[in-house]
Amino acid sequence: MSWMGKRDNHMRSPINKLVEHYSRIEKQFKLNKNNKSYANLVTSNGDQQFPIQRWFHLKEAFSLELLETLITDWDIPIESINRIIDPFCGVGTSLLAAQKLARKHHLNDLEAIGIERNPFLQFAGETKLQWHHYNPTKLLSQASCLLKNNKKVSQNIPPLSTLHRKDVYDPDVLNRALTIREAIKSISLPEQAPLLLGFASVLEAISGVRKDGRALRINPKKQRMDLQVSLSNAWNNIIYDISLAPQYFSPDQANSFLGDGRTMTLECSKFHLQKDFDLIFYSPPYLNNIDYTEVYKIELWMCGFIETPEEFRDLRHKTFRSHPSVRFTDPVTITENDALHDVLTLLDAIIEALPRDHYLKTRARFFMEYFDDMYISLKKQLDVLVPGGWIFCIVGNSLHGPRDDHAKRVPVASDLIIALIARSLGFDVKAIQIARYLTRRSVHSEYLRESILIMRKQ
Ligand SMILES: C[S@@+](CC[C@H](N)C(=O)[O-])C[C@H]1O[C@@H](n2cnc3c(N)ncnc32)[C@H](O)[C@@H]1O
Repeated sequence: MSWMGKRDNHMRSPINKLVEHYSRIEKQFKLNKNNKSYANLVTSNGDQQFPIQRWFHLKEAFSLELLETLITDWDIPIESINRIIDPFCGVGTSLLAAQKLARKHHLNDLEAIGIERNPFLQFAGETKLQWHHYNPTKLLSQASCLLKNNKKVSQNIPPLSTLHRKDVYDPDVLNRALTIREAIKSISLPEQAPLLLGFASVLEAISGVRKDGRALRINPKKQRMDLQVSLSNAWNNIIYDISLAPQYFSPDQANSFLGDGRTMTLECSKFHLQKDFDLIFYSPPYLNNIDYTEVYKIELWMCGFIETPEEFRDLRHKTFRSHPSVRFTDPVTITENDALHDVLTLLDAIIEALPRDHYLKTRARFFMEYFDDMYISLKKQLDVLVPGGWIFCIVGNSLHGPRDDHAKRVPVASDLIIALIARSLGFDVKAIQIARYLTRRSVHSEYLRESILIMRKQ
């Protein structure tokens, strides 16, 4: 290297060096940039009116169409896919997509399994997948009884401070809502489940808060919807969708379980998870500080999935280490594997690029924990896939550092890091399909994007 070269190297900022590092790594993979149709498919935008899927809106969900598009674009014979697993299945989009695929292609043997850590989200997914078990006539009369119930009974408000704020819930509305929830709980299964999900789906609309990325924001100007009207609409939609569903979905064949997707351990001891999956299709939590326990806390507490502060804290501790809401205690194991040298060098370059402020240690630990969880998850995925089996992993990159100083914000290219981890574990990384570029507070970076990793077990 010339003297000038050395000086240039010396003057380059750690962020510039990091971006060059990304560019070198990126050249080692096949990058697909041109297919614009994926931009909409990695979001839930188009699905808000789709029968069953609309029963509960999860902003972070992907589209119902994504599964079939990927299978088609990668020329995977549809009949070769018999078992699918989504280890971070949220509200069960991938599993409902599997029911849709089974209906369209007459795949009677297709089986899809999901794992979700958040008990409310798992309940939402499983309730949707069981659409064929609900009797619409019964539901109609139960919903109308619930709406007519005007009894004034004073309810115990769950011990979540948010629920005790008048700018979140009007006390009278909250009391009526809790009275209806008690009445729903006295209805027998299976119809209790869709009624409770309909109830959960209106909790934000009747409140003074809005889900905003990683937080619940109180908005004093927000127009709160009427409880009875919102419930009536939600339940009517559910009843209507049950009659439409057979046109779109095949019954059975898909289930969502409560458990840990990283290690694929299920909480239900009666169900034994067999290996031999042909496809793992998922979107893990992103490295963007979203703590799903926090964002869905109103639904968790109001529906009775969480009853004590201890249960709430315990749930946070069991989640993917993608947020700094709690101090996780599990050790980081990724550093122990020599085969991951490239990954660790890249992680070092990211940490090197971080501003030397008092958040440095926390951020460095947070990144290591996140990619450790990806490493643990990919190891398990390798274990449960058949040889030649596929992975479609949808992931978003993120930006870290002081919000008021754009020049110091560090892009973390999770797609490249996950691709490197997967390759080190022996996966054949077929491509990184860039779905869309993201903009954060007017910061543009070619590494700020949402991608789909397409990988195969060799
Ligand atoms: C990006 S979202 C997935 C959304 C999903 N694809 C959908 O369309 O509904 C990631 C999910 O991972 C869940 N999660 C977090 N930690 C988990 C864990 N340890 N095991 C399983 N799921 C977990 C979150 O609760 C969240 O629902």
